[in-house]
Amino acid sequence: MKAVHFIDSCSVIFGNTVSSLSTCHSSQDIARSGRFWALLFFILAIVEFSANFLMSFCFGRVSESVIERIRIASYSTLLAQDVEWHHSDGITPATLLSYITTDTNAIAGLTGTIVGTGMSIIISMVAGVILSHIVAWRIAVVLIGCIPILLGAGIMKFRSLATFHRKHAEAYANATGLAVEAVDTIRTIAAYSLEEDAVTTYHEALQAPYSEILRSVLRSNVWFATAYSASSLVYALAYWWGSKNVADGYYSQTRFFIVLPAMLFSAQRCGQLLSMAPDFSKSRISAARILDLLDLRTPYKPPSRQSRQSTGDDLEKDTSDLQDASFPCGAEVRIQDVHFSYPVRPDDSIPRGLDLHIIPGQFCALVGPSGAGKSTIIAMIEKFYAPTSGVVSIDGRDISKLSGTEFRDSISLVQQDNILFEGSIRFNLSLGARPGQIVTDEQLEEACRLADIHETIQSLPEGYDTCIGPNGGHLSEGQKQRLSIARALLRKPRLLLLDESTSALDAQSERSIQDTLDKLRAGITVIAIAHRLYTVERADQIFVIEEGQCTARGTHQQLMRTSETYRTNALRQMLDA
Ligand SMILES: Nc1ncnc2c1ncn2[C@@H]1O[C@H](COP(=O)(O)OP(=O)(O)O)[C@@H](O)[C@H]1O
Ligand SMILES: [Mg+2]
Repeated sequence: MKAVHFIDSCSVIFGNTVSSLSTCHSSQDIARSGRFWALLFFILAIVEFSANFLMSFCFGRVSESVIERIRIASYSTLLAQDVEWHHSDGITPATLLSYITTDTNAIAGLTGTIVGTGMSIIISMVAGVILSHIVAWRIAVVLIGCIPILLGAGIMKFRSLATFHRKHAEAYANATGLAVEAVDTIRTIAAYSLEEDAVTTYHEALQAPYSEILRSVLRSNVWFATAYSASSLVYALAYWWGSKNVADGYYSQTRFFIVLPAMLFSAQRCGQLLSMAPDFSKSRISAARILDLLDLRTPYKPPSRQSRQSTGDDLEKDTSDLQDASFPCGAEVRIQDVHFSYPVRPDDSIPRGLDLHIIPGQFCALVGPSGAGKSTIIAMIEKFYAPTSGVVSIDGRDISKLSGTEFRDSISLVQQDNILFEGSIRFNLSLGARPGQIVTDEQLEEACRLADIHETIQSLPEGYDTCIGPNGGHLSEGQKQRLSIARALLRKPRLLLLDESTSALDAQSERSIQDTLDKLRAGITVIAIAHRLYTVERADQIFVIEEGQCTARGTHQQLMRTSETYRTNALRQMLDA
């Protein structure tokens, strides 16, 4: 941390002290003026202490709160982006993380005490220059000519360092992304002995911009060295020109010793200011990145308890539409002539003119070959992606027209890859609660009994407080799946979406979960992507999905009679499963 110095007062005291030590004075005079100027230095020390303390405190405080706000704003903007954005090109976990870690840290370099120091340097430089002109303008005028040289060198240094940091950051983000991916998928890497390939890829990612970065290092170092040596050049000039002026009788020794530190310290401080250029250049780039991010969309604000209960017109429309009593026994879902293509495959449309109507309280199954678009249909009901054309509506409302995402509060999704978080079972379950819902132990137990996992949890040493490791790694796939189902049931959804969520279960557990769903049927609409005959047989309605279209629909009995595709394809897959 740099500090405030009162250079100009220093130089006045210094100049007078040096000349009072002259052997031309009597020893009493030297001692008396020595005490006087020492006292002035002492008073200056106290003033400097208070000023520095106050500055660090005020700027430090402001800086920390600004950084905290930037972190929260960036993080909430990241989370507010839709799934489509997160899956678009160039968005990797590492680049996203760098927003809230590297970039905010770099901005911290621009705020707080550094701004204070920069301001104090500029003020003392200006004061030093003015003072020097008043005291000995002939010396000052020559020395001031050196300041543009210092600034020029510093600006070039600043520019080349900025380019250097940008290139370095880009190269680093890419390589970090690869490293994070490899660590995340270590089992797969180990199973296929891909360790060496992973290291090679990482190495290549670092190598690509290597030579360019080397050139950048060379350029910036030339300017770096110039900026530093420039202040010594100014010293050389000052001593030569100053002593010449004193010798010619223009100025006294005292004046020379006042101007010398005032100008030279200013020059040094100017160098110091420019030495902060790397911090400024990093901060500038980071600030630009963060501003671009914040420009994406207003950060998502989680609705508070009050806002959920409020009767404001717009809010009511969005928050309560799925909870209102228009469909007391579950949500109604309608998909009308929906087309969609993933951004990476704009020519491949799946779904392709899809029509589905799911009546409140129905248990319906989506069956069909892998890659037919079943998971994509579920993603569209959750509004993870917006259809290219057509309408997805829930309870009669086109979800693309709803402004918020509150409609998701009464929907539960259980995905095939059960994502759980590091922490206790209780913590993981409570994530399924609706925003603002206070979860009681009874509710947790009820959800776990329904998902047939309560007994298993009870048999664990710490019961509901057992930690399940990163991504639930301490549990078996079947247990993770049942826990995910319990988490989904906790919010008592009106629409339950199951994406192959019973695939890891043994036949017995699957039956027990199916029985649970049968019991819940009265108040809930279920859309299940299923591969087990036991599940499909019980569905009120089965949709056969092939190549993004619904090719047949009906109950199991109806389809067995009427649909050749169902009998030959869908059914065979189910029996194989
Ligand atoms: N995030 C994605 N980006 C690009 N294409 C995708 C993505 N997810 C799925 N697809 C493609 O969309 C098609 C439908 O996939 P999906 O809905 O997952 O099928 P299903 O669930 O029926 O097996 C497939 O061809 C798949 O490759
Ligand atoms: Mg799928």
